[in-house]
Amino acid sequence: MGRRKHFDGKDQPLGLLTKDKLRQALYMFQFVRPYRWSLIIGLVLLFLSSLVFMAFPYLSGLMIDIAQGKSKFEWTLADAGLILLLVLLVQGGISYSRVMLFSRVSELGIADVRKAVFSKLITMPMVFFEKSRTGELVSRLTSDVERLYNAFSITLAEFIRQIIILLSGIVFLALTTPRLALIMLATFPVIVVLAMVFGRFIRRLSRERQKELAQANNIVSEAMQAIQAVKAFTNEWYETLRYGKTIDRVVRVSLRYAHGRALFGVFIITVLFGGLFFIIWEGARMLQHGEITAGQLVSFVSYTAIIGGAIAGLGNFYTELLGAIGATERIREILQAEGEVALKRPSAQPQIQLQGRIAYEQVHFRYPTRPDVEVLKGISFQVEAGQKVALVGPSGAGKSTIVQLLLKFHKPTQGVIRVDGHDIFSIDTTEYRRHIAIVPQEVLLFGGTIRENIQYGRPDATEGEIVEAAKKANAWEFISHFPDGLDTIVGERGVKLSGGQRQRIAIARAILKDPAILLLDEATSSLDAESEKVVQEALNNLMQGRTSIIIAHRLATIREADQIFVIDDGRIVEQGTHESLAQIPNGMYNSLARLQFESV
Ligand SMILES: Nc1ncnc2c1ncn2[C@@H]1O[C@H](COP(=O)(O)OP(=O)(O)OP(=O)(O)O)[C@@H](O)[C@H]1O
Ligand SMILES: [Mg+2]
Repeated sequence: MGRRKHFDGKDQPLGLLTKDKLRQALYMFQFVRPYRWSLIIGLVLLFLSSLVFMAFPYLSGLMIDIAQGKSKFEWTLADAGLILLLVLLVQGGISYSRVMLFSRVSELGIADVRKAVFSKLITMPMVFFEKSRTGELVSRLTSDVERLYNAFSITLAEFIRQIIILLSGIVFLALTTPRLALIMLATFPVIVVLAMVFGRFIRRLSRERQKELAQANNIVSEAMQAIQAVKAFTNEWYETLRYGKTIDRVVRVSLRYAHGRALFGVFIITVLFGGLFFIIWEGARMLQHGEITAGQLVSFVSYTAIIGGAIAGLGNFYTELLGAIGATERIREILQAEGEVALKRPSAQPQIQLQGRIAYEQVHFRYPTRPDVEVLKGISFQVEAGQKVALVGPSGAGKSTIVQLLLKFHKPTQGVIRVDGHDIFSIDTTEYRRHIAIVPQEVLLFGGTIRENIQYGRPDATEGEIVEAAKKANAWEFISHFPDGLDTIVGERGVKLSGGQRQRIAIARAILKDPAILLLDEATSSLDAESEKVVQEALNNLMQGRTSIIIAHRLATIREADQIFVIDDGRIVEQGTHESLAQIPNGMYNSLARLQFESV
């Protein structure tokens, strides 16, 4: 199947820094470009502060030599203390400016990345969302970008700092105490690298533990979300068992993790400090033989510790940077993908006018996610502007699919759909969709006020127009009964609206949009007789003077339709008015109608 590598979003294995990864990293640098001067100055300051930092071990050694009267310089202790204070102040100032500059670059740059990713996501074609999991898309915007942010705000700077410290430290030691430096270079890096390998093993255990824990948390949130199902099916015991099992797994992994950490502690104490002490011992011997001064030994040991830290840090930061580059790959995939519409502020007036004449010409369709099944098998029909047509037929026949193709959610695999004689794919998608409104069966409202939800149909609508639309939609009645009226918050943290109320808000939204073409997908099927009457009235108001396509399971609601198409298995099997279809003795329309009237 045509599953592209794009959409599976698996973690990339961390490897070496390849040319490809470098290219990806460079791609992301376009987001830094506007702030490059801050970055460049920050880098210079970083360089300076790292060098200044390297003066501390030297100065502490120097003070000891001065105290013992063995310094090459004619300085007093007070002089040395003053210099140290000065260096401290300079170091503080530089560090402060450097952190602020880097933060500026990363905050602003990452904000740009987030905005760019979101605006790309939202313009992606429907098929993209069908192929990706929502959770994965959200995680690209949150955790992947966060990883990039960390890399930028902290890791990159630290990485560079450690390199500077490492190089300057080694150069310094090689110049001042070459013999000790050689011994140190022969032993210390080996130990540090060993420690890093060990550390990586422990991190893997830690990740495993995180994963098990996440799974356990998943069970909790699933159970809470589906709490009604859990209780209705009395599965409390089963859920508890399921949760208990994952928690037991967490404990097993955690203990293995603890074991690793404990061993690591022993390793650090014996081997790492052992190595350090060996070098100190060697230094002490040289001091005894008068080959170096006490001050030199002190600065040497300090440098060694710092260099050891730098080597260890480099390994960690390197891994983190590679991880961040892996995260950029997923971000970059979205950024470089082709959106279906260009993102622009809509013009006040529509650029094109449509009457709403619709023609399907031999339309065949397969969903891109299921290319082996032909869902529509040659659909042809015509609707004059202002007509009401109805689609009926058994579940899975393809009715919703027909409507979705008209919204340009997908492109027919064969055939053409015309509106006012134009192939809809030759019309600008955003402009085209301005003339279509849909009232779906399951209305999802946005969290926010009722006003905002109605205004979604036309963001520049006035208060009067909103109230007018709510009245036409038969929604004003219940809205005005809420204490907060239009300002009532709906959704999870507000009033929960009934199915029929939500539908009427969706209808008000469609009325406000004032489209040439109106699509109703089974808008009345989930309502009781009373609310159905109110909603039906609202719909009749809405359908005035527009081309309407209604998908209805309740045949009673479509008696007045100008044309009715009976869809079965991706084909139109019957068409006509209610009266003419009712004449066909063994027709599908009749059998559907019979079934309904029997069941009422
Ligand atoms: N996004 C999708 N990806 C793949 N296949 C789909 C998708 N949506 C629908 N289908 C398949 O296309 C066929 C037609 O579905 P459609 O939703 O158009 O039926 P329908 O006539 O609207 O049915 P119902 O009356 O139950 O709403 C079904 O076999 C369905 O499984
Ligand atoms: Mg449907």
